Order: sequence, then C-alpha cells, then structure tokens
Amino acid sequence: MPGAIHAEGLVKTFGDVKALDGVDLDVPEGTVLGLLGPNGAGKTTAVRVLTTLLQPDSGKAVVAGLDVLKHPNEVRRCIGLSGQFAAVDEYLTGRENLQMVGRLYQMSAKASKARAEELLERFNLADAAGRTAKTYSGGMRRRLDLAAALVVSPPVMFMDEPTTGLDPRNRQQLWEVIRELVSGGTTLLLTTQYLEEADHLAHDICVIDHGRVIARGTSDQLKAQTGGERIEVVVHDPEHLATADEVLRTFGKGASKTELHTRRITVPVTGGAKLLAEVIRELDTRGVEIDDIGLRRPTLDDVFISLTGHAAEVAEEEAEAAK
Ligand SMILES: Nc1ncnc2c1ncn2[C@@H]1O[C@H](COP(=O)(O)OP(=O)(O)O)[C@@H](O)[C@H]1O
Ligand SMILES: [Mg+2]
Repeated sequence: MPGAIHAEGLVKTFGDVKALDGVDLDVPEGTVLGLLGPNGAGKTTAVRVLTTLLQPDSGKAVVAGLDVLKHPNEVRRCIGLSGQFAAVDEYLTGRENLQMVGRLYQMSAKASKARAEELLERFNLADAAGRTAKTYSGGMRRRLDLAAALVVSPPVMFMDEPTTGLDPRNRQQLWEVIRELVSGGTTLLLTTQYLEEADHLAHDICVIDHGRVIARGTSDQLKAQTGGERIEVVVHDPEHLATADEVLRTFGKGASKTELHTRRITVPVTGGAKLLAEVIRELDTRGVEIDDIGLRRPTLDDVFISLTGHAAEVAEEEAEAAK
C-alpha cells in the first residue's frame, strides 16, 4: 500500500487536554478522507502526528508504507502538507516562494519556473506574483501556501482546513485542483469544517470530537444514520411560527428546529410525500400561510449537529482572512 495512510490508537495529551484519545484512521490509496470536527476536536494534532511534526504518547501510524515514528525522514519525502502557512517565506515574492520549493525538491530551474507560473495562474496570484508574501492578504497567503504544497505532487497529501478563509470562487477552484490530484492517484487526508466540502470531495468521512472518532462512513451512510427525511417549512408571517411548529411536531418523529430570522422550521419525518400533503392540509386548516415547504434529505450539517450537539463553526479568523 505505497500511498495509504493508517493510524491505530493515537493518543496525544497536552497537560490535562487529551487532544487525541485513541484515534484509528484508514485512508486507502488514491482516496480522500475528510476529517471533520469542531474547533479543538484534534484535527490539527492528528495531521501533525501523521506528518511527523509531533510525537504521539502512544499508538502507531504508517504512511506510504513507512512507520511514521521509526522513519520520519523517509515519510517526509513522500508527503505534502499545507496549512499554517508553513511553507511561505515572508520576504520572498509569491513567484520566488514557489520556485524555491521546486528547487528544494530538486526540480530543474526551468521546470521550477514553469511550475511556479502555472500555479500562480491557477490560484489567481499572477498579478501579485512579484510582490513579497508579507504584503499579501490572509486569503492570498492561504492560496500561496496551497500552491507551495502542490509544486511537486507527492503520493500522499495532507491539507489542514485548506479552504478556510477562501472566497467561494477560490474555494471552487481549489476543489477542482484537489479532484485532479486525486484522479492522478494522490491519497489525501483533508480536514475541514465545511461539511459541503467533505460532501463534494471525500470518499470517506471521519467525524472526531474531543480526540475521539465519533462516526465514520461515506457521506450517504452518515446521512442515513441520522435518520430519514426532513420537512422544512417557511411561514409567511412570523406570528404563525408557533402554530406551524405545533403542527410539525404532531407529524414529526423528533425534535423540531426553528430558525427565527428565516421563519423556517425543520422536523425529521418518516412518511414522505403523503405525509407532506397531510401537513400542508393541516397548516391550511389552521390558517398558517406558507412561503415554502418541502421534503429534503438530511444534510451533513444535520449529521454534524446530531453527533456533536452543535453546528459546525468556522474560525473567527476566517472573515479576516477572506479579505
Ligand atoms: N501545542 C499545544 N499545547 C497545548 N494544547 C494544545 C496544543 N495543540 C493543541 N492543543 C489542544 O488540543 C486540542 C486539540 O487541538 P487541535 O488538534 O488544534 O484541534 P482542531 O485542529 O480540531 O481545532 C485543543 O484543546 C487544543 O487547545
Ligand atoms: Mg486545526
């Protein structure tokens, strides 16, 4: 399994915080594992252990067929890592940064230049290529860091929240780059707080919280575990929210969720379209005017809420970095 990632029983404690509390992971060669979890769940710690940057207290990890603890130098040669802007030198221009990475990996000067230009173009950095990285905004640095991780294409890649702080257009472009990488055979472990991202990119998903794996499976499997469909209704008049909630709870199979500012109520149901018709009739009878109503499958967000008890949140720095 030259490109696979395998971890067993990883434990890492910082003082009295158990950042990793017995984590097992498996990423078959050529696939993408999405590691999901709220802030502080242990995602970065897991990535740091697997990329040889941090020693676990116990457990074992094998990356690209090599024992991470016994052969860290060899492991480093077959992996790429992006996150924390580790690869970016402030005092070099964007272009110089990328060329330098190429040279570090023993590419010829010509090949390094060509690769740098290609990546600058891809990550919308061509206009800023001649400026030093320290003049870059948070979003631009993140793109440069990602580009640096992609100068050479190692068989195993780790990306720690690669698209946090990117605007939607740059995020889409990165997804495309990731898809290409993976179709070329790269194995990828990706951490993210964007459930949509895991939905689009990951073959398998592993949800962690407090250093423990609390669920794993494909996106569809996780959604199925969370229970069937949801009825979602948007009432026209906020004053009708209470009545509508009462109706939905009568027909629903679990707790309802009301979002005041969008006048939206969601409830898990079983019974499909027939039940939906009954709900519509009942709402009508009770005089509740509706703007929208429908049946939908649970999203990964629903999965995340039901597993961790809270919605996915994205770091505060994000708004800043997106500028
Ligand atoms: N170097 C460190 N020293 C002390 N505590 C740490 C250190 N790194 C991480 N932690 C703690 O370990 C837990 C997991 O952190 P982390 O792996 O960064 O989570 P995530 O990346 O999922 O947000 C958190 O409680 C964090 O505060
Ligand atoms: Mg992190």
